[in-house]
Amino acid sequence: MDAILVRGGRPLNGQIPIAGAKNACLTLMPATLLSEEPLTLTNAPRLSDIRTMTQLLQSLGAEVTSLQEGRVISMSSHGAINTRADYDIVRKMRASNLVLGPLLAREGHAEVSLPGGCAIGARPMDIHTDGLGLMGAQIDLRDGYLYAKAVGGRLKGAVIDFPFASVGATENIMMAATLAKGTTVINNAAREPEIVDLADCLRRMGAQIDGDGTASITIQGVDRLGAATHPVVADRIELGTYMLAPAICGGEVELLGGRINLISAFCEKLDAAGIDVTETDKGLKVKRRTARASAVDVTTAPFPGFPTDLQAQMMALLCTASGTSVLEETIFENRFMHAPELIRMGAKIEVHGGKASVTGVERLKGAPVMATDLRASVSLILAGLAAEGETKVSRVYHLDRGYEHVVEKLSTVGADIERVTDQ
Ligand code: UD1
Repeated sequence: MDAILVRGGRPLNGQIPIAGAKNACLTLMPATLLSEEPLTLTNAPRLSDIRTMTQLLQSLGAEVTSLQEGRVISMSSHGAINTRADYDIVRKMRASNLVLGPLLAREGHAEVSLPGGCAIGARPMDIHTDGLGLMGAQIDLRDGYLYAKAVGGRLKGAVIDFPFASVGATENIMMAATLAKGTTVINNAAREPEIVDLADCLRRMGAQIDGDGTASITIQGVDRLGAATHPVVADRIELGTYMLAPAICGGEVELLGGRINLISAFCEKLDAAGIDVTETDKGLKVKRRTARASAVDVTTAPFPGFPTDLQAQMMALLCTASGTSVLEETIFENRFMHAPELIRMGAKIEVHGGKASVTGVERLKGAPVMATDLRASVSLILAGLAAEGETKVSRVYHLDRGYEHVVEKLSTVGADIERVTDQ
């Protein structure tokens, strides 16, 4: 198994290109199931999660071809579609549940394995299934699978009030509603940029959608969707992650393709911590104003709030900031697993339930560490970049799920980082 070796202490200077968003691409790919005609995605990220979604769609009978070294994904679901999404693939990746809405809308029935829990929390699907129920789906849970059937063979429009602005449920219902009979309104819908990107793509395919990016989305169902080519939006989590690299190490880095409106709450917190972020014609430039960052309190929230997917990386910065910061996680119940690893590197962190109190130290110290999830693993790399000595981050397969060419991107700006074979 591979590991990442980081020798810390170097300032970082230069440019890092930001890839297309993993979480957008994983949502856009199942949209191919809604149409008999081709869907082509450009600016796709090259990640193992994308390969898992490719396998899942192929298992359902879609043709999926990777072009231009994975930058372009060409898909077609013109033939007969298999409606059963197997546990063997679904358990690998939570986003697999996004085939439920499209399969149900297209075929009138679907059998999709429940993904099960994951390292960061239980992650139930009741908001998805309650919404589809209002659209006329009967859904039973048997043998770990959701057996869903549209009464009368076709979903119908409904007014759905979400109890929580779930990203996945908004995506599933939005896709299902494009082919339903009549109008669907989702109230308390998620507003993440990935939702707007999905709506843009569906509109290109011929869907009628309004209000995406606000808390109320209206979808007027149509009889069929057509072909489209769509560029995947920039990855705001990769962007925020690499913005933290010069914030932690010093230097000045420009993130190509970055935009403040993708992560404005995050940029506000960086500013409060003493980090300058300026928009350029190519992206965002980041530079620390002072010798050390300052403590700042952070609470994760649905968009436009501070993203849960940047909480672990922000903690890496706050470990060496002057003063005590409080990080509160409100989205997932078990998302501080990076804390004990950072403590092994000399960080002062106390976790009490959903809150972590971080008192900055002058310098972290390199150590062998391991991560249990994707964002936690990159936070350990960031911490390693600032630490004295060598840090070895094991279980790199987590990282490969969500960050392409992390070693190359960080080396280009001057980091001492390499991928090694872990014994
Ligand atoms: C979440 C993040 C999203 C991120 C993605 C990948 C939020 C709001 N969502 O999306 O930004 O890109 O992870 O890491 O930050 N829940 C239920 N019932 C459901 C669905 C969700 O109770 O049917 C709860 C979850 O347990 C969790 C919260 O809602 O506490 C967030 O869920 P949701 O937004 O649906 O998660 P993802 O779609 O995975």
